[in-house]
Amino acid sequence: MRVISTIDAMRHARASYSTLGLVPTMGYLHAGHLSLVRQARQECGAVAVSIFVNPTQFGPNEDFGRYPRDMQRDLSLLEAEGVDLVFTPEPSEIYPPGFGTEVVLAAAEEVLEGAARPGHFRGVATVVCKLLNIVQPTRAYFGQKDAQQTVVVRQMVRDLNMPYEIVVAPTIREADGLALSSRNTYLSGEQRQVATVLFRALRAANDRYAAGERSGDVLREVMRTVLASEPSVQPEYVSVADPLSLRELEMISHGALLSMAVRLGSVRLIDNMVLM
Ligand code: PAJ
Repeated sequence: MRVISTIDAMRHARASYSTLGLVPTMGYLHAGHLSLVRQARQECGAVAVSIFVNPTQFGPNEDFGRYPRDMQRDLSLLEAEGVDLVFTPEPSEIYPPGFGTEVVLAAAEEVLEGAARPGHFRGVATVVCKLLNIVQPTRAYFGQKDAQQTVVVRQMVRDLNMPYEIVVAPTIREADGLALSSRNTYLSGEQRQVATVLFRALRAANDRYAAGERSGDVLREVMRTVLASEPSVQPEYVSVADPLSLRELEMISHGALLSMAVRLGSVRLIDNMVLM
């Protein structure tokens, strides 16, 4: 496994492989990240993983400074998965003096995570665009856990004619339903128990949908009611949206994305489920 921190060296190393899978990450790897690596491993001749805590996708009052990092542990996990290349650039390599171009998907900034986190998706789209153009993978792998991120990346690649295949892989969960996230490390023992309420709320709405309910308002209310059973949880948004446009649905006709963001003290958690 080669660990590379400059763009020139990455370009040079990439030339040794025909089909290459890229898994972009911000590190502090868990089984969700590793499931993307395994899928890439199965589908591509070689696998590259990027580890870069991208400063531009964090808001001024967000957790950039305290985002968890453990490069040595990450590298040994990736080595064990048989990863070929790890790209670990410094911020100055990605954003050198004079850097001045942003990828902006205006519609994404109006809804869900985009509305709740101003500037987040231009940070994500810009860094993913750069990582794709640096590594030039055959395929790039993203988790359904960040549902709107997958919509943003797919649209960027389509709109800008970027020649990379985008693959979206299912959310990996703990046995009790909590979606794995690097941010789960912020949860106290008690908060960790309460955090299962996101999955419980999604499952309750999914059950109602399976029983025939098609009203967006009813399903949003089902999720809100479950969230309200935990007084320490403050919902930020609860959504039943079209899976492509991410606009809120009154009636579900052909599938929907259930999603939510909540605060548990100072910890912000998101989760989602696709209704088919
Ligand atoms: P990060 O949060 O490190 O996540 C890296 C990838 O792992 C993303 O595609 C994310 O959706 C996926 N992932 C996270 N938790 C998962 C889970 N429980 N199951 C399956 N996949 C999961 O997302 C980012 O980094 C950044 O925004 C990035 C795309 C790297 C751009 O900076």
